[in-house]
Amino acid sequence: MHSFRLRLILALIAGVTLLSVASTYFEVLEHKHILRQELEWRSSWLGTSLSPQVESALAQGNTGGLAAIAANAKAQTGALGIGIYDPKGQLIASAGVPEVFQALAHSPFESLAKKTPVGSLAQTQVERAIKKGSQINGFGHTRNTQWLEEAFPLHDGNRLVGALVVLVDSGYIRDEGYDLWRRSFWWILATVVLIVTVTFGMVRWFLMRPLMRVAERLRRLRMGHFERGLSSGSAEMSIFSPLAREVETMAESLIAARAAAAAEARLRDAGEHFWTPERLAVHMRNKASGRIFVVSNREPYMHVRDGRKTMCVVPPSGLVTAIEPVLRACDGVWVASGSGNADRENVDEFDRLRVPPDDPKYTLRRVWLSAEEESQYYDGFANEGLWPLCHIAHTRPIFRASDYEAYRRVNERFAAALLDEMKGSAEPLVFVQDYHFALLPRLIKNARPDARVAIFWHIPWPNPEAFGICPWQAQLLDGLLGADLIGFHIPLHCHNFLSTVDRVLESRTDREHMTARRLGHTTAIKPYPVSVAFSGGMPSSLRVMMSEKEEDRREERRVLLSEFGVRAETIAVGVDRLDYTKGIVERLLAIEELLVQHPWHRERLTMVQIAAPSRTRIPSYADLRRRVDEEVRRINHRFQTSRWKPVVLIDRQCNHEEVNRWYRIADVCLVTSLHDGMNLVAKEYVAARDDEDGVLVLSKFAGAAVELRDALIVNPYDVAEVGEAIHRGLDMPREERRVRMQEMRKQVMEHNIYRWAAMILGDLRDVRLESPDAAETYSGSSAETVISIDPYRKMA
Ligand code: G6P
Repeated sequence: MHSFRLRLILALIAGVTLLSVASTYFEVLEHKHILRQELEWRSSWLGTSLSPQVESALAQGNTGGLAAIAANAKAQTGALGIGIYDPKGQLIASAGVPEVFQALAHSPFESLAKKTPVGSLAQTQVERAIKKGSQINGFGHTRNTQWLEEAFPLHDGNRLVGALVVLVDSGYIRDEGYDLWRRSFWWILATVVLIVTVTFGMVRWFLMRPLMRVAERLRRLRMGHFERGLSSGSAEMSIFSPLAREVETMAESLIAARAAAAAEARLRDAGEHFWTPERLAVHMRNKASGRIFVVSNREPYMHVRDGRKTMCVVPPSGLVTAIEPVLRACDGVWVASGSGNADRENVDEFDRLRVPPDDPKYTLRRVWLSAEEESQYYDGFANEGLWPLCHIAHTRPIFRASDYEAYRRVNERFAAALLDEMKGSAEPLVFVQDYHFALLPRLIKNARPDARVAIFWHIPWPNPEAFGICPWQAQLLDGLLGADLIGFHIPLHCHNFLSTVDRVLESRTDREHMTARRLGHTTAIKPYPVSVAFSGGMPSSLRVMMSEKEEDRREERRVLLSEFGVRAETIAVGVDRLDYTKGIVERLLAIEELLVQHPWHRERLTMVQIAAPSRTRIPSYADLRRRVDEEVRRINHRFQTSRWKPVVLIDRQCNHEEVNRWYRIADVCLVTSLHDGMNLVAKEYVAARDDEDGVLVLSKFAGAAVELRDALIVNPYDVAEVGEAIHRGLDMPREERRVRMQEMRKQVMEHNIYRWAAMILGDLRDVRLESPDAAETYSGSSAETVISIDPYRKMA
């Protein structure tokens, strides 16, 4: 660092000095030129005004008066000397600098030139002026004196009668030149000092300080302290912000890696085997046979244009958290619908891009859907049909033939894209997500029997009677049974599925081994409870940050509520998509019931409901929104006081950090879905409660209720029961809260999202590929006429 500064300073000194010297040199040259010109004008004026007087004296033969004229002129004009010569160049009279004029008077020009070099110029000017008959000048000097000599030819009419030489002192020109150099020296010195000081200051302030800060952060990081905000805020860091961002990202990765290693070590020490993203990645990399292909409707990275800027957004999704480590480790392919408004500008000619954009590890293949397809396949068949069909929430499913047609077409388009991606990959692993793609497994398996195909159904599977409403139930079941493995959240959904298959399709189901065999192909049906990214591998610094003390929590509650002009002592929180399956209206009624039955909670308890708008084009969702607004308004109107209200509604998408802040101050979390596959809010709340406090009120119709037995399990339709459960939760002794929360955290940690992915992908990898039984397929061959005509009808 020191040698860099020294080199910088030396280079600056050399550069500035060289520049200043050159500029002074030209300035001196210019100044001297001007002074010489002035001197020439003066000597010319002097000679021209003196010549007539000398010529007239010569004409009158008054040579004796010439010395007086010369002396007089010298005295009056301050010239150095005046010399008068005859036409042969002999000195007739002179005044001043006698050594020059005397020398000229006594010797012929040639010998004088050899004898006195100082006079040579004067002699030359005289001679040249006489020869040419015109005015000539030049500079001359002795050791101590410098002058300008100007020789004028003298005439009597047309006859040349001699020459007049005027010597004027030019020594001051050199002196002024020296003066200028002297002055410039100080100026140069001052400039060098100034520039070096300013540069030094700038280097110190804008380069060294930020660098020292980065270095200090890295040092602290090395010692295990992570602080955010290096790349933002201070102006001095602004030029380093790209570097700072990189350092910050690197720091985060380092922290995560350390935390993971620490967690692994801890787990190994405790003899436990929790799953971490690293363990999942290693597990899959070591054992995966074929390349992994994932298909989902939502994409893991979305390009969104905001004004002139395009941002790459990761939609909040548990799926991305779970699947990404595997895809990253094995360089897999994710096929999804491109739904960002700048998605098309960010793919190559094959609709692919490498993600994550900052650190590309796997391929995202985007499939484009038209607005009509979007409306019929997604809004229509998937969300107005299958969603209410599978969730028993008493919203009637709507089935339109045109929607099913679009659903089938979109499944085929995704199948085509997937098959395209799978070209060249032997025995690929295909992992399909959710109810948007029930037909996909069969399409894939038919085209690629060597593929191992799994589908995970993220929503409930209802009983056969309920599912029977769907006019295309046979096609959906057949499509699903193309998979080698079908995953549901809980055993009940698996059984419901097998019962539905039993009723609808010609197949052989085996409850003991949980399989269904159809058309020569066996499908395994298994529960895999989905979860959250909670591996307990949290860095200790973060743990300290999270386990706020009671007063910190009170302060955080005050800050968060003050935005809504509310004061409260206790908080109940609900976090949901604005969906009719979530039981939001019933939950509001339960709060009302609580305030009626236990008025003690009035002006003390506030329920904060985060309700992220969802599927807003669908009428049942728009109706729900109106209904929720009305209920909130009505209940608030009934109970609110000047500084308190019972319900705060936040009807927007909140990011993970915001939601976590609410989780950490909530005394009770309300998950009262009317029906839910799993419900990850319940698990997120548990994972966020690092302080082992808080109570979870959980619907018995949510899949999470199977695992989280230490929640207060309720029937969401029974508003009085839910109201009582909230009361019980708020009243529960600290020790009981702690024990319950500890148990739930242990369950979630042991069954986290990484375990989910490891289990399902592990089972998929272990699937034994069977050679397709040609006789049993419904390819349209004449051998199996019944099946090929109507493959879905159960045979008598
Ligand atoms: C449910 C589904 C998911 C879906 C999510 C959000 O949890 O199982 O597949 O991603 O809802 O719904 P959206 O329609 O916005 O993707």
